[in-house]
Amino acid sequence: MTVERTYAMIKPDAVKRKLIGKIVDRIEAEGFTIVAMRKHCFSLKEAQGFYFVHRARPFYPELTEFMSSGPIVALVLERDNAIAHWRDTMGATNPANAAPNTLRKLHAASIGENCVHGSDAPDTAAQEMGFMFPGISLL
Ligand code: CMP
Repeated sequence: MTVERTYAMIKPDAVKRKLIGKIVDRIEAEGFTIVAMRKHCFSLKEAQGFYFVHRARPFYPELTEFMSSGPIVALVLERDNAIAHWRDTMGATNPANAAPNTLRKLHAASIGENCVHGSDAPDTAAQEMGFMFPGISLL
């Protein structure tokens, strides 16, 4: 297995519900090393930039308004197979379809307010890490 980095985010719904500690605890219990972490409030423009890839989707306005509605926590996580392992830890995008004990099954309310984000591939991980942590080593 190759050591890899991924981009993770604790979304405004989870921050509002004081779940940062629980989620960070789970991240470390899953064997990730936290390489970088910052709390940040997206402006609407920043949220639109971050999710630009989804600009043509019907949920884009709802998504970007939600993501700029309160603080998020951005993280760079490292371990072997980090991208897939973090996606398994989060569970399916829609919490109704998420496997037991995944973060979204445990904590998410809906497909829109789904508590965490994770990059889906090495190229998006590189892009998302660069967006929030300019200059960070991609490994
Ligand atoms: P995320 O992993 O952050 O990537 C894109 C986000 O869009 C996704 O999680 C969901 O929160 C959101 N999303 C995807 N599909 C829908 C939908 N049908 N309605 C609202 N939001 C959605």
